[in-house]
Amino acid sequence: LILVLIVGFYISNIITKPIKELDEAAKKFVPGNLNYLKIKSKDEIGSLSNSFNSMEKSINTYVYNIQSEKAKLDLVLSNINEGIAAISKNGEIIFKNPVIDSLGQNILETLINIKDSCFKYGHVVEDLNLKDKIFKIDASIHNDTCIIVIHDITSERQMINKQKNFVSNISHELKTPITAIMGYTELLKSEKEYDKMAVEYLYSESLRLKNLVLELLEVSRLDSYESKLDKRTVNLSQIVKSIVENMCHKASKYNIDIKNSIEEDIIAYLDANKISQSIINLIDNAIKYSNPGGTIQVKLYSENNFNIIEVKDSGMGISEEDKNKIFERFYRCENAKEIGGSGLGLPIVKEIIEKHGGSISVESELNKGSNFIIKLPQKMD
Ligand SMILES: Nc1ncnc2c1ncn2[C@@H]1O[C@H](COP(=O)(O)OP(=O)(O)OP(=O)(O)O)[C@@H](O)[C@H]1O
Ligand SMILES: [Mg+2]
Repeated sequence: LILVLIVGFYISNIITKPIKELDEAAKKFVPGNLNYLKIKSKDEIGSLSNSFNSMEKSINTYVYNIQSEKAKLDLVLSNINEGIAAISKNGEIIFKNPVIDSLGQNILETLINIKDSCFKYGHVVEDLNLKDKIFKIDASIHNDTCIIVIHDITSERQMINKQKNFVSNISHELKTPITAIMGYTELLKSEKEYDKMAVEYLYSESLRLKNLVLELLEVSRLDSYESKLDKRTVNLSQIVKSIVENMCHKASKYNIDIKNSIEEDIIAYLDANKISQSIINLIDNAIKYSNPGGTIQVKLYSENNFNIIEVKDSGMGISEEDKNKIFERFYRCENAKEIGGSGLGLPIVKEIIEKHGGSISVESELNKGSNFIIKLPQKMD
């Protein structure tokens, strides 16, 4: 009997052990954790354990694929510039990316309100002003979840406003000389003898109109994406020298003396026409905003891998608070309002210099004079 019991126990152990192992393995199964069964029997249990192993393998592959897809998606959602949130109908935040967190605590309350309107109307698009910035919020429903995308449109809006101001300024600037020209022509039509003063006024207003149109064309050319610099290797020293020679004639009409200190043979890679135009604009300002008898000094030298051009005058100067504004389109200082101009010269210069990878700055003191400094990198690319 004992022998029968021992044999019986042994046989039942042989049968139940692999089943227990299978049971244990099934309980311990965690996706991603490889834990193959090593049951070698060739009966049904062996076949079951093989099926278990291959099931475990395919589940693991499946889980691995899902995890790596999720990691890719997380990477994209965490690194895009847009804020993205998914909110359920009952207000549970299913997902939000770091951009949403960066918008502060109150944003969640706003998003919940948007979610409510979105479930009501199906699609919500609205602007949100937050921390000096403007965001466009676009919310829609997908699979009973509200997906909200938040896009920072601050710079787009600034650009649009800038363009609106630009157009309204242009119309104002164009209207003034045209009205003057029309008024004087009207007057001249009715007179038998031409008034010399009126004709001269007509001429100067037409000239102003022509300069304005040319500057506007230049601004719009610089704004357009196609605008490319036509760079060549040139002798910058010669260019500056010949500009000074030409401008001396204009300056002498106002009894202004132009001195120069130009380092010889500075070779540079640049758009000669555009850089010449920038230097002419600066010298033109220096003449315009100086009193008769003043002096202008033009310098060209190289220093610390930069070619530096300075145009210094002894004119009316620029106040501290105007120094940053004079590079904005159409800005004209109070003390220059009596003198003609459109306020486009310096913005054009700044744009040209920055397109060359350089910078422009100004040092100035009211009633003493100004010094405009252009820095162009020597590195040729
Ligand atoms: N050398 C200078 N000295 C004093 N003020 C200056 C000087 N250069 C520029 N400014 C000030 O900066 C403003 C902007 O200059 P900018 O050259 O852009 O325009 P503008 O000379 O008025 O007109 P334009 O478009 O015909 O050049 C001027 O109106 C003037 O107030
Ligand atoms: Mg000017």
